[in-house]
Amino acid sequence: MQWWRDAVVYQVYVRSFTDSDGDGIGDLTGVRARLGYLELLGVDALWLTPFYTSPMADHGYDVADPRAVDPVFGDLEAFDALVTDAHAHGLKVTIDLVGNHTSADHEWFRAARDSAPGSPERARYHFRPGRDDGPPNNWQSVFGGPAWTAMPDGDWYLHLFSPEQPDLNWTNPEVWADLEKTVRFWLDRGVDGFRIDVAHGMSKPDGLPDAVPGEPDPRFDHEGVHDVHRMLRALVDHTAGRMVAGQLCVPDERFARYLRPDELHVGLTHRLLDVPFSAEAVRAAIEDAFAAVAGTRSPPSWTLSNHDVPRPVTRYGGGPVGLARARAMALVLLGLPGTVYLYNGEELGLPDVDLPAEVRQDPTGHRDGCRVPIPWEGGPPGFGFTTGEPWLPIPDEWADRLVADQLEDTTSTLSVYRRALELRSSHPGFTGDEVEWFGAPEGCFAFRRAGSTLVCALNASAEPVPLPPGDVLLTSSPLHGGLLPPDAAAWLA
Ligand code: BGC
Repeated sequence: MQWWRDAVVYQVYVRSFTDSDGDGIGDLTGVRARLGYLELLGVDALWLTPFYTSPMADHGYDVADPRAVDPVFGDLEAFDALVTDAHAHGLKVTIDLVGNHTSADHEWFRAARDSAPGSPERARYHFRPGRDDGPPNNWQSVFGGPAWTAMPDGDWYLHLFSPEQPDLNWTNPEVWADLEKTVRFWLDRGVDGFRIDVAHGMSKPDGLPDAVPGEPDPRFDHEGVHDVHRMLRALVDHTAGRMVAGQLCVPDERFARYLRPDELHVGLTHRLLDVPFSAEAVRAAIEDAFAAVAGTRSPPSWTLSNHDVPRPVTRYGGGPVGLARARAMALVLLGLPGTVYLYNGEELGLPDVDLPAEVRQDPTGHRDGCRVPIPWEGGPPGFGFTTGEPWLPIPDEWADRLVADQLEDTTSTLSVYRRALELRSSHPGFTGDEVEWFGAPEGCFAFRRAGSTLVCALNASAEPVPLPPGDVLLTSSPLHGGLLPPDAAAWLA
């Protein structure tokens, strides 16, 4: 029943996937309309980014009511219909859980704002008097600037992200009880698991000490967070087949602590998002990922993109080379044992879009480029995503990346993903929990799934190279005279 161990989970950035009502913003009914596509693609599960009531200061990661659907995304009925239909299509549904902070619009924070320093309303968050006319400590927000905002009455409140995302106080029992209520609420509606946002956050050290250069970051990875994960794990374990994955930005040597038998099932990392297209660097990252989960019961997890970072096509240099490299990396990822997370649009080879400042909406200013809506069919402005104006403009050039066309073209990026997913789930070579590396030309690597004949070879050098022995199952680019061209990968058996 541990379906996640080798699952391919498809991240739906709901806002950008499909709009069913013409307001230019994707919604739950839109996702439901595309379940046939996702089944055809061959993924096992969905991760839906936050669709809860929110003023959208951080596009839903600022949650005003965690047990309600924002009208922009639909309603509970639409959610229930999506879950029922997804299950009928053989797809699991996992959803985002934001426990580190709420929206400043949450009823708790509104009450805190209207209450006096020292009141129980303020005790659900981190309110403190300032220090020397400034914030209470030297912590910085992940989004830049001080992590504190001043109230007119002299108190300051903590926000590790935007000022619209006040951090909850995890020493307050009400905060625990509320997350438990939220988890039960969605489990009762049939979800198969959760992705915990900022899973290394939540708990803060007593006294909120200053950050000291060269010492561990006091904002994150505090011991108390493990009790939160134990609570979450106990809740999901109540029903077989439900899982909890957490976004973890912690040093490798701290990683396995989150994967103890009563904590997360899967730890998600940024590892491959930070690595250049180099055989040496990618191999090292893969080995580190295996090492980080060694001795735990958790599979390694792999991801090339998400809604927070530039898309791989762009990271790897853009244009045809960037695209070839992203396709090659897709075969590397999907050839590995463990849980793979794909981000919507990755299977189409979409690049980042360089959007003019006036249309960007992200509070960091940097993440809109990877959040442009999906070009399904037709042309501008809606490309089958919406009958209205998309919330971020879809570039005209994406007329050559349409889902409708890529489904028909056997050489398209989408076809490579489909074939790879089909092989991953049906070919007998995709077994075992480990890989064995073997000799490869400089700038290349090759690994075999342990105990199997399945081989994945990557050529990140500038020259075509001979393939390892075996029958070719799939290549990310056509072979050149029997050789694997630069910026390409192949599966053989
Ligand atoms: C999410 C971001 C979000 C941040 C604050 C991250 O884990 O992926 O999109 O801005 O948490 O909630």
